[in-house]
Amino acid sequence: MVTLGGCTHPLQSTLDVHGSIARLENTLFVPVFWIAVGVLCLVTGLVLYCVFKFRARSEDEAPKQIHGNTRAEIAWTILPAILLASIAVPTVKFVFDLNNFPNNALTIAVTGHRWWWQFDYPTATNPTNPGDIDFSTATQLHIPIQTKVVLTLTSVDVIHNFWVPELAGKLYAIPGRTNKMVIEADQAGTYYGQCSEFCGTSHANMRLQVIAQTPADYEAWVASQEAPAVTQPAGSTSEAAVGSQVFQTVGCAGCHTITGVSDGMVGPNLTHFASRSVFAGAIFANTDPNLRLWLANPPLEKPGSVMPNLHLSSTQITALVAYLDTLK
Ligand code: CUA
Repeated sequence: MVTLGGCTHPLQSTLDVHGSIARLENTLFVPVFWIAVGVLCLVTGLVLYCVFKFRARSEDEAPKQIHGNTRAEIAWTILPAILLASIAVPTVKFVFDLNNFPNNALTIAVTGHRWWWQFDYPTATNPTNPGDIDFSTATQLHIPIQTKVVLTLTSVDVIHNFWVPELAGKLYAIPGRTNKMVIEADQAGTYYGQCSEFCGTSHANMRLQVIAQTPADYEAWVASQEAPAVTQPAGSTSEAAVGSQVFQTVGCAGCHTITGVSDGMVGPNLTHFASRSVFAGAIFANTDPNLRLWLANPPLEKPGSVMPNLHLSSTQITALVAYLDTLK
């Protein structure tokens, strides 16, 4: 397990901004919010004023009938128009600002799956092209701090929505389409995120974490992810070696990639599984008891899970957990 510098931000509040993009978004949100509060107070005040001022004073007296007040009608047409125009101008500018992607930025491919997030990192020689994959990981997105990182979003199944509220607004991950967004964190820390488009049974279990690191820590992490998977020596009878055999024979290898071992593409890449502190859409801390619970019956822990119940024996689970723990 990795030790993480910085603090954790589990609250997922858009008002608690920790990056330039979230800050930019709040420069639009905050004034629009206060304008809306002003309109609410004004309208509520006028309604209350009218209720008392023009209330019926006797049972049988019909209210005075009036039609049309040109001045009032012009006023309530022009005032909202001016208000909306004054909000539209910064909004349009903001849309263009948000679509102004930095050149030569680290570009990470984000793919939504039911129900977890895949992150493909580009090679150092081609950092702006996430199609040139250096390594693939899941659930925890590492980024260097104080750096604008471009994310390209897509999905392999249904529409998901990528959202880490303290760092940036949400954006759709749509099958057959690539959407782009920028994300940036001011300080080192772990920022919690969540799929925010209903995508089926385990939508609520499709969480993620962004781990923002100092450039040195980030580079060290990249190097650790580029390293080949830990392998078990031939002929070894250790628990982990038995586990690696179980991985190959019970079906895990058909769905999960471990570089140099298997190339399944359905589930998360497990090459450095033990370097991640959470798993299964970040619903579990990566501990042995949680792994046992998960391997015993994934769809019970995460309803609708694509990973089936393989009806593993307790012995097989013990061996698999020992093997997974070696995949640092
Ligand atoms: Cu993916 Cu909700």
